Amino acid sequence: MNRRGVAPYHRQPWGDALTVELPAGLLREFVAVVGESHVLTGDAAAGYAVDWTGGFTGQAPAVLRPRDTAEVAALLTLCAEAGVAVVPQGGNTGLVGGGVPLHGEVVLSLARLDRLGPVDADAGQVSAGAGVSLQQVADADPGLDLGVFIASRASATVGGAVATNAGGLRVLRHGPMRAQLRGIEAVLSGGTVLSHMAGLVKDNTGYDYPSLLAGSEGTLAVITAARLQLVPRMTDPVTVIAGVDGPGEAHALAHQAVREAGGLVSAEFFTQAGLDLLTEHARLAPPLRPPAPAYLLLEAAGPGAAEELAAVAGDRPAAVGTGAAERARLWAYRERHPEAAGFVGVPLKLDVSVPAAQWVRLASEVAGVVAEADPGALVITYGHVADGNLHVNLVPATAADGRHQDAVFSFVASLGGSISAEHGIGALKAPWLPLVRSDAERALFARVRAAFDPAGILNPHVLPR
Ligand code: MLT
Ligand code: ZN
Repeated sequence: MNRRGVAPYHRQPWGDALTVELPAGLLREFVAVVGESHVLTGDAAAGYAVDWTGGFTGQAPAVLRPRDTAEVAALLTLCAEAGVAVVPQGGNTGLVGGGVPLHGEVVLSLARLDRLGPVDADAGQVSAGAGVSLQQVADADPGLDLGVFIASRASATVGGAVATNAGGLRVLRHGPMRAQLRGIEAVLSGGTVLSHMAGLVKDNTGYDYPSLLAGSEGTLAVITAARLQLVPRMTDPVTVIAGVDGPGEAHALAHQAVREAGGLVSAEFFTQAGLDLLTEHARLAPPLRPPAPAYLLLEAAGPGAAEELAAVAGDRPAAVGTGAAERARLWAYRERHPEAAGFVGVPLKLDVSVPAAQWVRLASEVAGVVAEADPGALVITYGHVADGNLHVNLVPATAADGRHQDAVFSFVASLGGSISAEHGIGALKAPWLPLVRSDAERALFARVRAAFDPAGILNPHVLPR
């Protein structure tokens, strides 16, 4: 049982019988690096071994909490010498089991690397330790903002967001975390520190390894700091939720908004099914009466934004917010969707993307595809319509033995899509990687990985061949 009192799907095969012990000498060496209070074992380590969804529960023989890059390097050197596998962990907000010790790995928590540098006003950039939250980065300067905006921003950290190349609610405008990255500091498994933090916009001096580390899910190096490009803070933002008759209308309107609303920042889709769960369990009052089959949330900023969004919404039923409180109220309908399926059971969160021309088919047909595999499954869809991204959250009614992933991922692959748009592969999707990545690509991944981590200790069960 996990902290929500429900049985997880993805418990390691050896279940509760897993006991992993480290040699006492190694534990003493860890203590010599970080101090006794930052080597956690037993019950103190348990909270680091379960993920946010409650679907992934592992066991950590130790949680190590270094306070700086030098301590990270010393700990990794010890782990590499001892052949001990390591799972780097940030805010533990990941959704694919990539940041929890499902195979008895040591957890390397980067939470204490929380130094946020001064904002460089000339460049509009800031250097942030891996443990700084995305919200802290966003709040660093009153005129600037972080381009990546995700619901878990108060807990999600810079290191984890770079390692998973987090996307979120403003990708259509600012791109994912990789696009914000102007430099990185990271430690290789042998303890070597790589640092390239000058923040140069133009820098053609060799391989762009910061970009490679973005989305590497902790398999290549441990990210200890990042140099981030900030974006101008929005002025006069306007948020609109329009009722639509389904995915087709949502997609057409979103693409009209992309073309016609110059200040567009977000275009988000959700359905009445998810909203029903939120009105019942999270006590949100419905945004529109009567309800619509589906909804499109648009946000734009700058001169003329209100008029542009009004023109896109046309005479459809719509709720409009301009003040902070009213916009937050409207955003809650979308931002709380990740919780919706969790009110019914432990959700399986499948995050997929397809080419733009296939998105309507994906959003319209995926529930039927799931029903063929498990007629009783609850399916809630929502997502980033302008990015071709759909989140398929489902609560199985039958055994969660991979049949749901088989069904959804095969459908997505047949549409030319990706089995992970923004959450990563982690443990959840590892068996299905060959659906979307060829033998040649995975062989290249393995060679890259061996070059960065010859000891083979960094998140060894994530992104396997
Ligand atoms: C979102 O878009 O809300 C995030 O990717 C989180 C989620 O899908 O659960
Ligand atoms: Zn998302």
